[in-house]
Amino acid sequence: MSNLAPQPIYRKDYKPSNYLIHTTDLSFDLRDDETLVSSKIHFYKNPKYQAGDNSLFLDGIDLELISLVIDGERVDYELSDKGMQLRHLKDEFVLEIVNRIHPELNTSLNGLYQSSGNFCTQCEAHGFRQITYYLDRPDVLSVFTTHITADKRKYPVLLSNGNLLTASSGQATWHDPTSKPCYLFALVAGDFAVLEDNYTTLSGREVALKIYVEAHNISKTQFAMDSLKRSFAWDESRFNLEYDLDIYMIVAVDDFNMGAMENKGLNIFNSTYVLAEPKTATDKDFINVEAVIGHEYFHNWTGNRVTCKDWFQLSLKEGLTVFRDQEFTSDLHSRSIKRIEDVNALRTFQFAEDAGPMQHPVRPESYIEMNNFYTLTIYEKGAEVIRMIHSFLGETGFQKGMKLYFERHDGDAVTIDDFVSSMSDANEFDFSQFMTWYSQPGTPTVSIKTNYDEISQRFHVEVEQNKGHDYFLPLNYALLDDQGHALKEGMLTIKQHKESFVFEQIKSKPTPSWLRGFCAPIHLLTDLTFEQKIFLVGHDSDAYVVWDSAQQIWLSLILTPNKAHEQLFFNALEKLIQTTPDKSLVSEVLTLPSERFLHQQVAMIDVFDINQKREQMAHKVLRRFEALLLETYNSLNNNQAYQLTSSAVGGRSLKNTCLYYLSKDKDSGLALTQFEQANCMTDQIAAFNALITNNSAHKDQAIASFYQTFKQDVQVMDKFFAAQSSSITSDIGCIKSLMQHELFSFNTPNRLRSVVGGFTQNYINFHHQAGYEFFTDIILKLNQSNPQIGARLVSVYNHWKRFTPELKQLQKQQLERIMQSDDLSNDIFEIVQAALK
Ligand code: TRP
Ligand code: ZN
Repeated sequence: MSNLAPQPIYRKDYKPSNYLIHTTDLSFDLRDDETLVSSKIHFYKNPKYQAGDNSLFLDGIDLELISLVIDGERVDYELSDKGMQLRHLKDEFVLEIVNRIHPELNTSLNGLYQSSGNFCTQCEAHGFRQITYYLDRPDVLSVFTTHITADKRKYPVLLSNGNLLTASSGQATWHDPTSKPCYLFALVAGDFAVLEDNYTTLSGREVALKIYVEAHNISKTQFAMDSLKRSFAWDESRFNLEYDLDIYMIVAVDDFNMGAMENKGLNIFNSTYVLAEPKTATDKDFINVEAVIGHEYFHNWTGNRVTCKDWFQLSLKEGLTVFRDQEFTSDLHSRSIKRIEDVNALRTFQFAEDAGPMQHPVRPESYIEMNNFYTLTIYEKGAEVIRMIHSFLGETGFQKGMKLYFERHDGDAVTIDDFVSSMSDANEFDFSQFMTWYSQPGTPTVSIKTNYDEISQRFHVEVEQNKGHDYFLPLNYALLDDQGHALKEGMLTIKQHKESFVFEQIKSKPTPSWLRGFCAPIHLLTDLTFEQKIFLVGHDSDAYVVWDSAQQIWLSLILTPNKAHEQLFFNALEKLIQTTPDKSLVSEVLTLPSERFLHQQVAMIDVFDINQKREQMAHKVLRRFEALLLETYNSLNNNQAYQLTSSAVGGRSLKNTCLYYLSKDKDSGLALTQFEQANCMTDQIAAFNALITNNSAHKDQAIASFYQTFKQDVQVMDKFFAAQSSSITSDIGCIKSLMQHELFSFNTPNRLRSVVGGFTQNYINFHHQAGYEFFTDIILKLNQSNPQIGARLVSVYNHWKRFTPELKQLQKQQLERIMQSDDLSNDIFEIVQAALK
């Protein structure tokens, strides 16, 4: 680092703004080689914060100031690379600014930028300051009016938040009546096709629904529209929450750093989360589209109408909104499978984050670059914390708390404490001890020891947390008899470091089923025997426990092979495959823990050893079950018309898990036939993956034909690239040629993620010096063009200390090399310095 190290921002330093804003009038003159932004901002002294003096600092980055007047008069100001300092201001005044920006050169995809030639914005968290000088903080809310001028031939569609006031060719004026912070501002200008529909809310408001996409994608928007209507209806029925404007717009763009953005009345989406049809989208893609559409819609209440006081409260809106979108998916599809998938993702990725150098509490105390804190901890662990509150209060109590939360805080910028107080006050439930979930980083470990006393017919349970911890958590359980019937079931409340429970009148030694539904985000250690875990796989009515018990067994069989145990487990699996009606569940149970997950379970990561051990296990499964897998495959391989019902999804899921195993040993021909005959992307990509990863004789042919069929489709091409870059059959030469491919685009995050992100998951070919050096070069390029994406990707080095000595040393050298480079962005600096600490 040649310059001074960037300084963290601390939560404890929060001060209200000394000025607030009544109205913000913006005018955009969008041109090919520059954009002129004119703002007229009506400021007034904060009545609740008189301590502040009459000076004001406005955020502004990469702006060229053209003119500035206050109440029509020229005044003095000081500019720095972070913004503008004004002094000696009146208690109320109107500031008028004109500045120039260059969206046509903006590759950071924050602020105003172009995607496929269209203009769009991304203002959360700190993008608005790249548009004009402003109080770029979530606790300053105002009413926005936005005027847009642009070439009507190139940009016939001109959009912003709220209602359209006036429009003529090449011009439009929008007015958003709801006060909002600037991170919810949005502007779009371009050439789009639109799918229109409408929705009548519970109280009778007619809402126009519009989904804007590039014209060639219009046929892939119906599912998104239906998902949007389901989102409106679900929030009304489950949360009693209605939409509040007359128009709701979604715009899909190909270049986007994250999934989607909840801008008031004008969501902007990564096109991957809008476009879906059976030929090009997998079952998972469909459910993700619906979930993200829901997520952004649900933000209208949890995020927009009640927003965050400062960015440390991010989980206030994100954890709660993820919880809501999880419930949405659970109510519409298979609740148990949704839970298994979410828990699997949490334990694979969030637990790793929480054990690594970027570990932070759900409410962080400091950050250097806020964009680095849109994390699995804020989102997914945050949602688990909300889920625990829900477990304690039940659905009715939780809804009472939500109601009070909105009664108290609608229209405000608030804190996580305000949310928990609402939950607490509405239910007279004391959550004070619960707050450690927000303040303490790391995944707690809880151990359970049991003892059955035949004579007294008592079952004793001791629950202990690790060193000094006293997390407050719910522990759902059941005690099962020999038939798998619950003798007792319920929820234990764990409050102290150590707790004991006694269950009376237990006639015979029970098998306990713990942490049902994964009711708390913890590592759980139990005294269950191998045989008891097998019993749970075969008998528990809780799908999570069935799956988790199987995962624990897979883990032990992969890492420490044991013939006798393997036989026992395989016998149980056979029965499960033959008798379980829920095909999705069978598929989940049959799926081996991922390499990423296995890496976390060992003291030192040996990527090659883990890969080999996992492959060996796959071969053992194939040898033992070949006939049954084939029979199952054939019984499910009916080219029925595509449906997204849980049973159809489950059938495809199990079929493709069978295909995974059946393609392991040899070219069975199954994958090729399925690849050629598939009527949906779920089947197509599963077959494609099988052909690629097993170095099938038909691999090149499959690649060529897949490309010919789908080269026009951006979403499918992302899959095409990811399948190849992450395959152990692709070495670094293959990755380099993928980056030379005519469809490769460095500045499109989806494409970069599919190729470069895919490569970092290619454990065999990424983990050596040349792989690392090649990857670091890409990071250094991203440091200039898109540091937010660079920071996400570079996090792959976060766990360097846990690798075998040689790889550990090599990764460290790469981190040091990045650290020494000039002009390091805050984004990448923060990740790399934490990793090196
Ligand atoms: N608020 C968005 C969501 O979760 C997240 C998001 C979209 C975002 N784009 C971003 C965060 C860019 C940081 C930067 O729904
Ligand atoms: Zn969100």
